[in-house]
Amino acid sequence: MSVSDGRWRAETLGHCLDKAAKRLTAAGIDSARLDARLLAARALGWDAGQVVARPDHTLTPEQGRILDALFGRREAREPMSIILGCVEFWSLDFTVTPDVLAPRPDSETLVEAVLAHVEDKDSTPTIVDFGTGSGCLLLALLHELSNARGVGVDISEAAIAVAEGNAQRLHLDGRARFQVSDWDAQVEGQFDLVIANPPYIAESDFLDIAPEVARFEPRLALSGGMDGLDCYRALAPALNRRLASQGRAFVEIGADQAETVADVLGNAGLVVKTVHQDLAGRSRVIEAGLGDS
Ligand SMILES: C[S@@+](CC[C@H](N)C(=O)[O-])C[C@H]1O[C@@H](n2cnc3c(N)ncnc32)[C@H](O)[C@@H]1O
Repeated sequence: MSVSDGRWRAETLGHCLDKAAKRLTAAGIDSARLDARLLAARALGWDAGQVVARPDHTLTPEQGRILDALFGRREAREPMSIILGCVEFWSLDFTVTPDVLAPRPDSETLVEAVLAHVEDKDSTPTIVDFGTGSGCLLLALLHELSNARGVGVDISEAAIAVAEGNAQRLHLDGRARFQVSDWDAQVEGQFDLVIANPPYIAESDFLDIAPEVARFEPRLALSGGMDGLDCYRALAPALNRRLASQGRAFVEIGADQAETVADVLGNAGLVVKTVHQDLAGRSRVIEAGLGDS
């Protein structure tokens, strides 16, 4: 688009994308061209392939204005997940708002670890997901385990509303329910599978994280207190209380937290079974039980 002097001058999509890529690169965004294409796809109602294939398309004034506004939001480092309002996780589409953490590809390690543990995919395990956020972990598991049922728990009412919407859109609401609770304070019973991806960023690390995360994602979903371990300390006794005797807990951790979180879980009476790595070989998930099971 070209509106610098207030008058519209016709511009092709290709030229507009070149300018946007420069603008986003200057703002420090590594994926500038890809982001520009995805935003163009959204503005035009096209798929990404059409955006690449039609650089000669002449933008209408309305299309130019919408694109300019989207590029402006991205230039201010608003995450793509919030601008687009959705993220793919485990090949499922999740609605994302500023009230929830956008599902991260690394968290698929937890889903894989749970599925590796559940030998019979037709079995009927019960699942509780502490800090469910968008509901991505619980809903990915319910998608794979068609006879499982689960509860997603979050202290944020707004997050619970997002998770409920995702369950409905994925047609999993018949087997998932969601509840507001401070960890297990309002939760009853024991579960075969207890999963959690708690906030684990240490306060001192906030200075180093990307503006997309620090400025736009909910602090409640990120901050693990001074040393990043506050939520594990609060959660560990809850894992113990909510695990069925032969059950398994799967807890996501930061890349350098395997030893410290294992200690916290051990102090709460849990026995670490395995530490699972993500695709980059970083420790990502601790699997624990109550004893020799
Ligand atoms: C790192 S996010 C994880 C979201 C989602 N499970 C995922 O993996 O993308 C942590 C979640 O824990 C929730 N949370 C923080 N403190 C909590 C508490 N005391 N009780 C329950 N949930 C809490 C936050 O609201 C946030 O949704």
